[in-house]
Amino acid sequence: MLSPDIKNEISQKIIASRQIAILTGAGISAESGIPTFRGNGGHWKNFRAEELATPDAFRRDPKLVWEWYEMRRSICKKSLPNPGHIAIAELEKQNSSKKFHLFTQNVDGLHRQAGSKKLTELHGNIFTGRCTKCNHIEENLDTPLSTLPPPCPQCSSPMRPHILWFGETYDPKMLENSIEFLRNSDLILIIGTSGQVTVPVYLAQEAIQAGAFSVEINPEESTLTSSVDISLRGKSGEILPQII
Ligand code: OAD
Repeated sequence: MLSPDIKNEISQKIIASRQIAILTGAGISAESGIPTFRGNGGHWKNFRAEELATPDAFRRDPKLVWEWYEMRRSICKKSLPNPGHIAIAELEKQNSSKKFHLFTQNVDGLHRQAGSKKLTELHGNIFTGRCTKCNHIEENLDTPLSTLPPPCPQCSSPMRPHILWFGETYDPKMLENSIEFLRNSDLILIIGTSGQVTVPVYLAQEAIQAGAFSVEINPEESTLTSSVDISLRGKSGEILPQII
């Protein structure tokens, strides 16, 4: 349980804020049963995410990469938003008169399922595919797929997951808009991320350096812990409903 003083301080900051930013990582979905990338259960057949989520891995062995995504897609399909996702969607509703935006590194779609609307999926969505030849985007690609890699419905070339992989660049317009929003935020909640990926960390630091009040929620320390105003040690599904 959080102390009444901490709850009160965070509630006051939420009430006083004009622009709220939230950054989430895999930890917010852990209580929905989706394994995080780093830490226990973060490996698959002895591969690390960094060895499979790359253009090189896909060139070498597209079927292997798709098998990994099929495993993750089947978990995501079965998973439901947890109280952490729901609290964030509720925070957006409660602050509908303010500027609010949620930036997630997650590709599982659970924030949207929980009702979040002002949302940027920085790394894409696991249920979307993209043709490697004609760039056709296929949304709501169901799982299981009968052929791996799945053929593009437009040109029959192999499709890949429409996800940002290691070594690929973020959409510049999306990045520009995100930076602009974070620089102008006066409150940022950083939830369930280890802070190992450069761009999301940079985005959070933009808000912190511009003077945003910053709160982290994570059972463990992250690379952002030393930069934030308050770091709450615990599970987001338990802490968020207490402060929202
Ligand atoms: P990580 O797996 O690196 O970190 C997950 C974080 O969640 C850790 O700091 C955990 O302590 C924390 N955590 C675990 N359970 C939690 C809970 N119940 N509540 C709150 N926090 C909890 O995941 P990310 O930081 O999201 O990129 O990783 C960033 C990116 O690296 C991912 O988007 C992915 C990955 O490779 C791509 O796929 C491009």
